Amino acid sequence: MILEPGLFLFQARLNVAMQRQLWMECRVLADGPVPMYTPTVRGGRKMSVGMLCLGKHWNALTYEYESMRSDHDGLDAPELPQSFVELAATAAADAGFVMRPDLCIMNYYTAESRMGVHQDKDERAETIAAGIPIVSISLGDAARFVIGGLTRKEPTRPLILRSGDMLVMGGPSRLRFHGVTRIQTGTAPEGTGPGRINLTFRQW
Ligand code: SIN
Ligand code: MN
Repeated sequence: MILEPGLFLFQARLNVAMQRQLWMECRVLADGPVPMYTPTVRGGRKMSVGMLCLGKHWNALTYEYESMRSDHDGLDAPELPQSFVELAATAAADAGFVMRPDLCIMNYYTAESRMGVHQDKDERAETIAAGIPIVSISLGDAARFVIGGLTRKEPTRPLILRSGDMLVMGGPSRLRFHGVTRIQTGTAPEGTGPGRINLTFRQW
């Protein structure tokens, strides 16, 4: 479904078996040798999500990407699995974009987690200027996601992102403001959840 130029929502793109498998792979990574953690952003506030970056690490203090987690424990970001890359690149291609994802931010939301409205603009200027998309996969509990325009002032529209949905934000929609206002607890398909995992794939 095309929502706006460059903004695509593929509902139920992943079937329940794929959702379960991906959920399990994410849990294994989150509990692995380079574990998920709760970032503290500049200003000292803790985020309400758990985060694990794959491929490259997003430093919550500098808002820059780096190979090791210098704002946390100094460990190298785990590799981005090739199977994850293919899921994202295929969805991007179906939306008409050529994308070579080289990093993914995994966020884990509990009932209380939120994501304030923001733009994804920490990737390379060339990538953003080319409109190379952000590709998101939602798993587990559904979320109320809001997406607006290119300025903070423009009104946002709500979208429910359910387990198995994929969202592509590219071209003229690459820098739309967006956030997560609520988690709909108890909605996760069996074998996923509790809570919500969101994967955002990016090309640095
Ligand atoms: C994000 O914008 O980083 C996450 C979006 C989401 O959780 O759906
Ligand atoms: Mn974002």
